[in-house]
Amino acid sequence: MKNHSLNKMSVVSVLSAMLLQACSVQDDQLAMPVKQVDDVEQKIKSIMSTMTLEQKIGQMLQPEIRSITPAEVEQYHIGSILNGGGAFPANNKHASIQEWVALADEYYHASMSRKPGRTPIPIIWGTDAVHGHNNVIGATLFPHNIGLGAANNPALIEKIAQITAKEVAVTGIDWTFAPTLAVVRDDRWGRTYESYSEDPAIVKTYAKSMVQGLQGRASDAFSSNHIVATAKHFVGDGGTEFGDDQGNTQLSESELFKIHAQGYYTALDADVQTVMVSYSSWNGQKMHGQKYLITDVLKNKMAFDGIVVSDWNGIGQVAGCTNDNCAAAINAGIDLFMVPDTWKTWIANTLSQVKSGIVPMSRIDDAVTRILRVKLRTGLFEAGAPSTRELAGRSELVGSTAHREVAKQAVRESLVLLKNNNDTLPLSPELNILVAGEGADNIPMQNGGWTISWQGTGNVNGDFPGGSSIYQGIKDKVESAGGQALLSKDGHYITKPDVAVVVVGEQPYTEFLGDIQNLESLEFEQKNKKTLRLLQSLKEKGIPTVTVLLSGRPLWVNKEINKSDAFVAAWLPGTEGDAIADVLFKTNSGDVNHDFSGKLSFSWPGDACQSIVNVGDADYNPLFQYGYGLTYQDKHTVNLLSEKGAALLGCQLQSGKPKSPLLVDLTTSQWQVFIDSAAGQHTPVDHNEIITPDVTVKPDQTGMSVTANFNPNSQSTISIRSDELVNLLPYLAHNATLNWLVRVNSPFKGNVKARIDCGLPCSGDVDITDALQRNSVGEWQTLSIDLACYVPGTDLRKVISPFVITASDALSINLAGGSINIADKPADIQCAK
Ligand code: BGC
Ligand code: BGC
Repeated sequence: MKNHSLNKMSVVSVLSAMLLQACSVQDDQLAMPVKQVDDVEQKIKSIMSTMTLEQKIGQMLQPEIRSITPAEVEQYHIGSILNGGGAFPANNKHASIQEWVALADEYYHASMSRKPGRTPIPIIWGTDAVHGHNNVIGATLFPHNIGLGAANNPALIEKIAQITAKEVAVTGIDWTFAPTLAVVRDDRWGRTYESYSEDPAIVKTYAKSMVQGLQGRASDAFSSNHIVATAKHFVGDGGTEFGDDQGNTQLSESELFKIHAQGYYTALDADVQTVMVSYSSWNGQKMHGQKYLITDVLKNKMAFDGIVVSDWNGIGQVAGCTNDNCAAAINAGIDLFMVPDTWKTWIANTLSQVKSGIVPMSRIDDAVTRILRVKLRTGLFEAGAPSTRELAGRSELVGSTAHREVAKQAVRESLVLLKNNNDTLPLSPELNILVAGEGADNIPMQNGGWTISWQGTGNVNGDFPGGSSIYQGIKDKVESAGGQALLSKDGHYITKPDVAVVVVGEQPYTEFLGDIQNLESLEFEQKNKKTLRLLQSLKEKGIPTVTVLLSGRPLWVNKEINKSDAFVAAWLPGTEGDAIADVLFKTNSGDVNHDFSGKLSFSWPGDACQSIVNVGDADYNPLFQYGYGLTYQDKHTVNLLSEKGAALLGCQLQSGKPKSPLLVDLTTSQWQVFIDSAAGQHTPVDHNEIITPDVTVKPDQTGMSVTANFNPNSQSTISIRSDELVNLLPYLAHNATLNWLVRVNSPFKGNVKARIDCGLPCSGDVDITDALQRNSVGEWQTLSIDLACYVPGTDLRKVISPFVITASDALSINLAGGSINIADKPADIQCAK
């Protein structure tokens, strides 16, 4: 894009930001002078005077490339498009840079068509370049924001943003939906890694650096090296109760702004051109319908004069709205509508709402004015077709050595050393190193979500040309120094190694699919302690271990820390895995190569249920404090940590704060286990083992679970019953799942069914054989079953027992209750509604 002076605006906004910072966020003290440049405003007026209502409404849309053709862009006067996570030219994940540019050209030319009845207005294409240009094969992918927060280096952040802007510009795309300015307070949120810090201070500083790097500073703003940035998600996305994705942030206005809006002040100060609205609610009302915060506060008081864009189908969540019909969101002040697929009916509905006066014409004019203002101000009108722009198609810039060097620096600076007993690190590169664990040679895992695909799943190392795994870096280091690196995922070896580097962590996830649910805690591998077993076996063999944790959030890893000599939180470092070895290993001459400098930007939990622990809390008591991080100069010993993990039933029992599930807790008097015989005999299981011809049931010492051993051809069932009838019908409307915590104790044949009973002849059942068979014997498993599976034959209003289990052959199984849960994840066992 071409140069366009923003100097005047910048002065005004600096002054207003100073004003802002000096005062409270409420009241008219928030007032900021409106920043506008005369010639731009004149041009907007003259363009608007040629536009019909249909053209204006088309400008306000942002469909997704999978759901709109260039011809439709021309026909419907569409103002913007996006590619969602995992959307590529021609649906080809390996699309070349030239193919990206060619597609951008097609949409651009469609938007500039001069057919009669059209006003040519350049289209603006947005993408989620949230840790580098992460939808494009071969791009430089940086650590996710949580790692950048630990690096706490604003100058580095600006460089990262500049590189991201360049790589995006190479593909002919104009705009990124970044930075995320969430200040995450409950680490169970699946988007914790998209946040720089739990503390507003880092977010506030970084917001400015990021926007300056992406858009350019005033002197070179929107030169061909830059793209448009987005401050998202306005506002309170990181403050939802229970860390629920798209949940509710319950706070006073001043707390909301003090904690969650700090990044917006600095982003606006750096002239961010767009703001994306949050899926979340503020005090029970969806942000997408929040006129007060969007119009009165953001647009009027904070004087934001750019584009307010909605999130992906976010308008459909406003009360009374659907994805293609939401006057309330327009009237609340949203200007550009990310309606990825149902955009045609959105046009029809919006047209009729304007005609009937439900949406005032003045609101449409304001929205289009802002869209044109951003397009004019950023030079899009003069930029020409994407392929003609300075950086377009220069594929040598994508993933260039220079760019990767900056990413490697970011990786090194993001690492936080949590434990280094007996100076285990740095390692000599002359040693014989065992490199173990699922993450050791796993570039997809290093990258987490928002990587090529939306969830970051379905990728292999080969999808990252130019990138490197952690193992690769170790191998290069030690082989050049005469040492050896043996890669063995499960830790097996023939020659005993001098030391083991174990790389483990979370599998990729994005958004709600990464939420930690009610019955789960922050405990790492709670149900299958495979890393712990690996560390234990290495310890037994006397091999010192260095554990490198790849994760999108702090996790409760006390047991694993105890079994490791050194422990590194590496977050989600991106494509440059080899940079980790720069810090773990000495130089060939035995000096420290790169020391650790990363410091926790998120407090580290001291127990598995401590998901809400933030610096400044009145009862602040983390395991490792905000700002903690050892260096090679520190002689600090981490003593044996408490190993009391989460209860089998998870955390809410301890915190006394259930979300909204119905808990089936065997330790309470409400719930009781019964053996029900075919002859109609019901035997309660209390404290003792009960042996019947069909089945033996034994409660465990805690009372939280029972072991049930079914004999072959058993006619009996085991049920968990409530002392009163339970009404499950209201849960049905919320896609509820029944989640049962079970453990199969030995291999079994035959079928197993889970039933709901509501009194004869009322019941429904689901075959759970396959789901049980999929899990390892001896491991706890949460079996989630769609409530809808039970609908045929069941009166959900009067359930006696939500969990009745039968087996057609011998089966030994442990049952530990569970919950009936409002679903935000697809169930293991699903049924058509
Ligand atoms: C996310 C946004 C993202 C958008 C477009 C939404 O689901 O919440 O952060 O920018 O999708 O992919
Ligand atoms: C898109 C993402 C988007 C998500 C929202 C996916 O299909 O690819 O970009 O954020 O849907 O649910």
